[in-house]
Amino acid sequence: MEDSRPIAVFDSGVGGLSVLVRLRELMPEEDFIYLGDRKNAPYGSKTHEEVRRIAEKNVDMLVLHGAKAVVIACNTATAAAVEPMRKKYPQIPIIGIEPAVKPAVDAGCGRILVLATPRTVSEPRFTALMERRAGNSSVIGVPCEGLSQMVESGECEGKETDEYFERLFTPFRSDGFDAVVLGCTHYPFVRSAIRRAVGEKVAIFDGAEGTARHTKSCLEYAGLRASAGRQGKVIFLATDGEEGVRTISDFYRKRCDYHE
Ligand code: DGL
Repeated sequence: MEDSRPIAVFDSGVGGLSVLVRLRELMPEEDFIYLGDRKNAPYGSKTHEEVRRIAEKNVDMLVLHGAKAVVIACNTATAAAVEPMRKKYPQIPIIGIEPAVKPAVDAGCGRILVLATPRTVSEPRFTALMERRAGNSSVIGVPCEGLSQMVESGECEGKETDEYFERLFTPFRSDGFDAVVLGCTHYPFVRSAIRRAVGEKVAIFDGAEGTARHTKSCLEYAGLRASAGRQGKVIFLATDGEEGVRTISDFYRKRCDYHE
């Protein structure tokens, strides 16, 4: 059975595009609806309850749009809302993203910094993930105040970005670290600046590829895949109106062919 209904993907803005690009690479035959919830951004400085409520509104809207599955392409919204959303929609696969701590631990990294929004770092789900996955590694959550807003406003390169990371990494330099995990979907867009700040020897991990692979297997398991050979398309929606839709698709065109 083939199912050509769209897969919905949402984030507080452009961050989830770093996941969408991997989803499309893996499943070019699928249609996608991408929602950039710019009106409610940033999620990372909101309370648990606020993020949960916002995420629920988005999922409700995307289900109404006929989504066959929803990918929460946001670590903050996943941490605060994926469980209640799965309870509310047991018949729809709801896939979340988690910081790629396991790949970093499996690669033998001993001291791992997980960069994430302040909200994510204070979520019990995040703390539990770090404890569950750490093994013998030391895993440290690093709240990155204001970073998703910098990316959202297109500030991905330049003096201010470099200074931001210099300040962020300074307290960790004396003990050193082997890996940086990008625990927010906005951060892959500043990967080059992070690479400059940490140097070549530190490994950088993000969860987008793992999330895309997991989404594909969930759809296969549920018999929800579109037929092979189709040419999938993307519809962009934004909660701040026409302007936002244009901004998001421009950003997609400019940024989403990045690879490391
Ligand atoms: N991109 C989101 C994440 O992965 C959050 C950005 C924000 O709105 O603060 O956590």
